[in-house]
Amino acid sequence: MSTYEETLKKAFDPEIFRGEGHRVIDLLADFLAEANPEKRPRVLPYEAPDSLFQSWAGRFGPDPRTSMTEILREALDRSNNLLHPRFVGHQCTTALPQAALAGLVGQFLNNSTAIYEMGPVNAVMERHLIDWMAGLAGWEKGADGVFTNGGTIGNLTALLAARQASSESNVWAKGTAAEAPVAVLVPEACHYSVRRACAVMGCGDDAAVPVAVDERFHASLDSLVRAFDEARRIGRRPIAVVANACSTATGSFDDLDLFASFAEERGLWLHVDAAHGAGALLSPKYRNLLRGLERADSFIWDAHKNMLMPSLITAVVFRDGGRSYEAFSQKASYLFEKGSREEWYNYAHRTLECTKPMMGLRLFVSLAVLGTEFFSGYVTAVYDLARQFAALMRDAGDFETAVEPESNIVCFRYLKKGETDIDGLQRRIRRALLERGHFYVVQAELRGHHWLRSTLINPRTTIADLEALLREIRTIAG
Ligand SMILES: Cc1ncc(COP(=O)(O)O)c(C=O)c1O
Repeated sequence: MSTYEETLKKAFDPEIFRGEGHRVIDLLADFLAEANPEKRPRVLPYEAPDSLFQSWAGRFGPDPRTSMTEILREALDRSNNLLHPRFVGHQCTTALPQAALAGLVGQFLNNSTAIYEMGPVNAVMERHLIDWMAGLAGWEKGADGVFTNGGTIGNLTALLAARQASSESNVWAKGTAAEAPVAVLVPEACHYSVRRACAVMGCGDDAAVPVAVDERFHASLDSLVRAFDEARRIGRRPIAVVANACSTATGSFDDLDLFASFAEERGLWLHVDAAHGAGALLSPKYRNLLRGLERADSFIWDAHKNMLMPSLITAVVFRDGGRSYEAFSQKASYLFEKGSREEWYNYAHRTLECTKPMMGLRLFVSLAVLGTEFFSGYVTAVYDLARQFAALMRDAGDFETAVEPESNIVCFRYLKKGETDIDGLQRRIRRALLERGHFYVVQAELRGHHWLRSTLINPRTTIADLEALLREIRTIAG
């Protein structure tokens, strides 16, 4: 058995680290080179949870049991390969290798971000990123925001600020017991994290009053008005409305100008969940999908969904930067104190989390190394590809899409001739795709039916990959 001192010496030995580091980078470079159907036919070598669990049992104990490259090679081989061009599933992105390297440095440094002194470089990088994102949204002055670990916390952060903004009193200190129950108007196509935020805030799930969406999953003025009236009818005071840019299941963008006018007329806070779609701001061809965003009060942007960043990195951006101090303000500092607002660099005033990883470093470094035009090209390319994929299916005639894609999300299904159970067929196809592993595709329930769902998020996916997917589906269906 090695002693603590022996292992300690090895663990922090710079030369051992150098050698291991080079071997791990070689492993990753090979993995990247092999991420294609010829070298690695399977995207996800699916294994049943229980057997995979068993196979990792007993791998660690009092003494070292393996080498770094050995265990990491196995982890790579048995994981879902998001670098593979035939990964067309959820909105979790292929990681940009440069961002992954910056992430390694961030983990090595392990600076936190909540307190400036603990992570000064990351803190100022994040401030630059927020300014840049706010500028893209059309907010040159006065905007501000923070980074959170994911869109779920991002939506919660924005809605907490919205609730304080709607109140005469200090909600953080006094709670809402003395106030009329509030309501947030939430389109049915919203991500569940929005409803969850309402419940987490103690408003109750009922506070999320649903806004009906049409066949294309957009909310209309009429449905917004109906939801507003319904909120009042059930004795709640509407304080905010959430718009999708874009929705999770189908990638549909709400008409933000329409939402903004509606919100302005009624004195509501407009929060735009642009977790997935904010990347379109970077594309001259598609940025009009976000027209009206400049009239919102807040929005979120997940760079781990649309900027090739490893998870997680969400920006929560506020048009009136002062509002960003209200979400977690133990003394509602924006209203009652000056101190914390001047300390923009101590993010602890403004985030749920205390210790935070160096999120901004990955994005800042990637932008600096590759340039913003690269990201603009990326968004345009994957949105274009979604349209080509839909056209391919239209021309083929034996597939249909749920809606014409507006972003890089495409929901579709196979219409096998003579098949009476079309929903059941999609379920079988999805299961077989998972087990075969040549493509990673997910599923969605839409308008009471079952659909296959793909997000074209990998910049190395081509139309030829998608043609191959359709062929595979036809083979499975028999
Ligand atoms: C539109 C939208 N908002 C919020 C979220 C939640 O983001 P996260 O998974 O980063 O918490 C998602 C996740 O898919 C989403 O699609």
